[in-house]
Amino acid sequence: MSWSSILAGSTPLLIAFSFILAWLVYRRIGPTEYDGPPAGTAGEGVRIHVLVLGDIGRSPRMTYHALSIAKHGAKVNLVGYLETTPHPDLINNPNISITALPTPPPKPPLLPFLFFAPYKVLFQAYHLFHHLAYALPPAQWLLVQNPPSIPTLAIASLVSRLRNSELLIDWHNYSWTILASTRGRHHPLVYLSALYERRLAHHGALHLTVTRAMARQLRQPPYSITQQLLPVHDRPAALFQPLAGPRTAAQLTALLPASCAALVPSLLDGTTHLLVSSTSWTPDEDFSLLLDALVAYAASPGATPVLAVITGKGPQKEYYLGRVAELTKAGRLPGVRVEMAFLPFADYAALLACADLGVCLHKSSSGVDLPMKVVDMFGAGLPVAAYSGYESFGELVKEGENGRGFETAGELAGILERLLGDAGKGELEVLRKGAVREGSRRWDEEWDASVGIVLGFVKGK
Ligand SMILES: *[C@@H]1O[C@H](CO)[C@@H](O)[C@H](O)[C@H]1NC(C)=O
Ligand SMILES: *[C@@H]1O[C@H](CO)[C@@H](O)[C@H](O)[C@H]1NC(C)=O
Repeated sequence: MSWSSILAGSTPLLIAFSFILAWLVYRRIGPTEYDGPPAGTAGEGVRIHVLVLGDIGRSPRMTYHALSIAKHGAKVNLVGYLETTPHPDLINNPNISITALPTPPPKPPLLPFLFFAPYKVLFQAYHLFHHLAYALPPAQWLLVQNPPSIPTLAIASLVSRLRNSELLIDWHNYSWTILASTRGRHHPLVYLSALYERRLAHHGALHLTVTRAMARQLRQPPYSITQQLLPVHDRPAALFQPLAGPRTAAQLTALLPASCAALVPSLLDGTTHLLVSSTSWTPDEDFSLLLDALVAYAASPGATPVLAVITGKGPQKEYYLGRVAELTKAGRLPGVRVEMAFLPFADYAALLACADLGVCLHKSSSGVDLPMKVVDMFGAGLPVAAYSGYESFGELVKEGENGRGFETAGELAGILERLLGDAGKGELEVLRKGAVREGSRRWDEEWDASVGIVLGFVKGK
């Protein structure tokens, strides 16, 4: 027998031996696996990783997930960037530890995006894998925010496979639509990222969405997700609360621009109404809708005086400041004062609670998200008039119960005439009660009744 035939005869053995060796090496140097209570059950030793490839301080929803999980006694590792100060409850929570990811270096100005992007993705992938697979103890669930999906979904899928964790995807949006909004719908990268996102989505054992409409969309092609989908609506932050009693002169004086001081007495006796709208001053929120509605309202016979305070910063603000000045000068806004303001968060929350009606111009391009500003207005007990031309609208604003929907400036003007006139007092009061009711449902209640039950932290009814 020649050596070569011996070697050929033992090939299967050699292959088997190499596999065993590789397996042993992997057991030795690979990530440890989770072996605590199985997914869907609570108990000693439950740990959950919460991952957002973004600034933790500006990720309220992932912050609330972490706080809810910790409240039920599980250990949480919250992984993300530390750019702004995170929510104080996170920092003082004995059940939560924060893992700060290193921020990728900024793109050198001369380097083309196509060269920088792969480097940035590799940088992020390496640090994500290092922390999730090695630096942190293994977890029962890995909860990941999507988007961004690159490279988070790939790394999260891999790590959950290697560590025996279940993958839980919280859908805030779709990665590819965000990319499409800057690169155009037909860019090859948009096509590839959509393919990637859809393919990896199937690794999720459970999916959370911001609306029921989004859950329906994910159920259908091209996503065709077959695993459990659970809508979890965003709820107002604790800062947004209705007033305990009537608004006072001191409150109004402190919150309104100094130039409005003369209006305080008429606001207090209800002869002037206070309207609040917050806008990002982008084409997504067409401010001309509100401005045209105010012009039409001012021209209507029964119009009562209105102070409209518009908060927010954005590119079109200067343009509309000019428009308001022109219209006022031309006498097209009699009895209507439009003031632009930029308020600290707590003052904004207090202003909402003092107002008579909130106006929301948010147009959802996806059709399946909900404007956080309306959530906050309800938290402050403020009824709304909101743009209604999209699918998920009715999940938050209930027509005639807590607000009114409009699609045109004419419709909005009609709502203002009705609600701010004498005849509308009763209706406005009904809407206000509805807003308080809707706003009183807070995150804990929402979370416990859905995610809490599915994760086994809360007993179902
Ligand atoms: C931390 O977990 C314990 C149980 O392990 C629980 O009793 C406590 O309320 C939790 N604390 C917070 C602040 O969530
Ligand atoms: C997703 O992002 C796009 C682009 O930023 C935005 O227009 C859209 O409203 C968002 N959709 C959701 C569901 O949040």
